[in-house]
Formats: sequence, C-alpha cells, structure tokens
Amino acid sequence: MGYPITKKENLSAIDFFMEVEAPHVARSWKPGQFVVLILDEKGERVPMSVYYAENGKVGMFIRRHGKTTLKLWYEFDVGDELLSVTGPLGRPIKVKHYGNVVFVSDAVCAQAESYATLKAMKEAGNYTIAIQSFENKANVYPERYLAKPVADEHYLTTEDGSVGIKGHYLDVLKELIEKDRVDIVFGGGKLGSLKKLAELTRPYGIPTIVTVRQIMVDGTGMCGSCRVLYGGEIKFACRDGPMLDAHKIDWDDAIKRNARFTEQEKLAKERYIE
Ligand code: FES
Repeated sequence: MGYPITKKENLSAIDFFMEVEAPHVARSWKPGQFVVLILDEKGERVPMSVYYAENGKVGMFIRRHGKTTLKLWYEFDVGDELLSVTGPLGRPIKVKHYGNVVFVSDAVCAQAESYATLKAMKEAGNYTIAIQSFENKANVYPERYLAKPVADEHYLTTEDGSVGIKGHYLDVLKELIEKDRVDIVFGGGKLGSLKKLAELTRPYGIPTIVTVRQIMVDGTGMCGSCRVLYGGEIKFACRDGPMLDAHKIDWDDAIKRNARFTEQEKLAKERYIE
C-alpha cells in the first residue's frame, strides 16, 4: 500500500504544494524534521522539508527543479500514491521562549519551514517575525501560503522590487538587528545567503540556527553527501541536523561540496524533459 496524494496546487512559476496521507509521520513530526519521498520502484530518495504534519497528512512545498520533482508535478495527481514517505527524520528544533524570534527564508525548503517553525514558536509565547524573500513576483506564493498567519510581523521582499520590499531578507534583518529587536534567528534557503547571514549575526552574538537540508542526497546518514565541517568536527546534516548553528558551519566548504552534483542533476533533468 502506498501513500495517496490528497492535495496538489501550484504555488508560483517554480514551486508547488503537495499534501500526502502519512499518519505515521504526522503522529510524531516536530518542526525542523524532514521526510524522504520515493515515488515508485525506480525512484530515488528525495529529502523534503515539511510545511505541516497534522491530522494524518503531511504538507510540503516542492521546487520543479530536478527529474523527480518534475515527474511528481507532471505525472502524479491527487489520488495517485507514492511508494514511500519515510520519517520524521533528523532532529527537531528546540521550541521554547526566546523573546523575538525571526525566521528568514529565500528558497522553497525554508519557505515551508518558516511557517512550521514560527507556528511552534508563537505557541511557545515568542514574538514572531517572518522575512520571506523571493526573486520576483512570478515566484511569490499566494498569500494563504505565506507565513503571515503565524507571524506577529511579516516582511515580503523581492530582488527586483516587483512586489513587497525591494531587496533581500538580509537587508530587513540588518535593520531589525540595528534596532535591537532580534533575540534569535532561524532560517534556511540559498547557501550563499546563509553564509552572509552567519557573517551578519556573528558580531552581535545573535544565535542563528539554519537548515542545511538542501545539501542532502539520500537522507540516510550513509551516502556522506551532507557532510558539514562544523566547529572543527564533522557533522552530517541528515543525522545531526538539518538545523545547525550557522556560526559553526564552514560555509565555503559546504558551498563547494553542494556544487558537486549540479552537472549530474542537470543531465538527469534534461533526459527527463526529452
Ligand atoms: Fe546521505 Fe546525509 S544525505 S549521509
């Protein structure tokens, strides 16, 4: 028996939303944890961030980016079943009272996690601030999929200024930090931005916890692809994370390692499109 798709909806020019029935995940999932999908017998393992996991269902935001996610968008509809949904995997974030909690995001995995994390942080009595960045208007999600309902304060930015504030989450966050309004930052998205985020918050001593789920390949703890140099130690994003202390990560190494699969991913995508 597989895992039926219960909802599917386009979010933007590049991302979509999908909900699957997976009661075993929904029962014990906590913010920060991820799942691994396998579409069919020939499918690869695809680690995914979670937007919500409740009432027996798991919601995800997915980028039409590689062979598997394109197949999921074009060949799987509501009612179709996935071969497997494994999880919850990884370590949850520590939900407690921090004060002013900011979540920054500029890519699909983190957009999902901004909602999940801030919802839990708000319930724990924190003041929540979401800064969601997109490249342009075509990539911005419909309002109901933004983190607004769980954010006491919400900022939307686009690089070209076509909607929301022109700029990036780093610009908005810098202003909030200068006004002494940030007690802790959670975030995720593009690795280059996360490196800049770590550099921005480090001098202020602001704890900064980020997801590095995007560097995983199989999510099992065995392929070694998600290895991170971390304060003089080696950590595995899928086993020790995916949320890690941004100030301890060797970002240049992580960025270099992540680029290793770009060519293979491009080839697999081109073959699928043909
Ligand atoms: Fe393979 Fe972590 S993704 S070891």
